[in-house]
Amino acid sequence: MGGCFVTGTDTGVGKTVLAAAMLAALRADGVRVAAFKPVVTGLDEPEPGRPADHELLAAAAGLAPEAVAPQTFGPAVSPHLAAELAGTTIDPAATIAAARAAGASADALVVEGVGGLLVPLTVDFTVRDLAVALGLPVVVAARPGLGTISHTLLTVEAARAAGLDVRAVVLTPWPGAPSAMQRSNVKTIARMAEVEVATLADVGTGVDELAAAGAALPVGRWLGP
Ligand SMILES: Nc1ncnc2c1ncn2[C@@H]1O[C@H](COP(=O)(O)OP(=O)(O)OP(=O)(O)O)[C@@H](O)[C@H]1O
Ligand SMILES: [Mg+2]
Repeated sequence: MGGCFVTGTDTGVGKTVLAAAMLAALRADGVRVAAFKPVVTGLDEPEPGRPADHELLAAAAGLAPEAVAPQTFGPAVSPHLAAELAGTTIDPAATIAAARAAGASADALVVEGVGGLLVPLTVDFTVRDLAVALGLPVVVAARPGLGTISHTLLTVEAARAAGLDVRAVVLTPWPGAPSAMQRSNVKTIARMAEVEVATLADVGTGVDELAAAGAALPVGRWLGP
C-alpha cells in the first residue's frame, strides 16, 4: 500500500493541517488519494470555526467524512478512554482492516494518527502499532519553538525503535518571520535526528490554500512503502 502516516509530537501540533495539505496537493496533481483517521475524539468540543479532523481530511481528499473516520467519539480524551466511556473497545484488527480498505482503490493513502505515537487505541495497541501494521513511512508534525527539539527527538527515536521509516519532520505553523531560535531548531533537529526537516506556513482551511501549501513540500519523497 502506498502512502504516508502523519504523526506528531503531541496532540494539537498540526497533524491534520499537514495531512490535509499533503492530500490536497497530491489530488491537485491528479493522484488518486485516500485519507484515514482511525479514531476521532472530541466531537463534543469543536474548535470554533474549524472543521473536525475527518471533515477537513475528507474535503482535502474529495471524499465523504464517514469514509475517512470509521470511529468517532464525543469526549476529548484518549481513544482508549473514549471507547471505554462509550461502553466499547477499539478493535485493532478491524481498525487495520478499515485503513487498508480506505486505501485499497487509491494510489496514495494518507493516515493521520491520534495525538502522539504512543497514544493507546487500546492499552495493548498504540498508534505506533497501527503505523507498523500498515507499513507506511512516517512524517512527524512538530511545533517550531521552544521545547520542540526534545519532543521531536523522542518521537523520532520511538518511531525508529519500532522499525518505522521517518521520512521527515515538519515544523508547523512556520511563521513568516521565524526567530533565530526557530531557524536554529530546523538545523539542530536535522542534525541530531539525521532527518529531513521541512516547514509548513500558516494556512487556512480552504482546499485551494491547503493544496498550495502542500505543493511547497516534497510530498512525493515522503510516500512509501
Ligand atoms: N500550518 C498551519 N496553519 C494554520 N494553523 C495551524 C498550522 N499548524 C498548526 N495549526 C494550528 O494548530 C492547531 C492544531 O492543528 P491540528 O488540528 O492540525 O493539530 P493535530 O495535531 O491534528 O491535533 P489532534 O491531536 O487534535 O488531531 C489548529 O488550531 C491549527 O489552526
Ligand atoms: Mg488532528
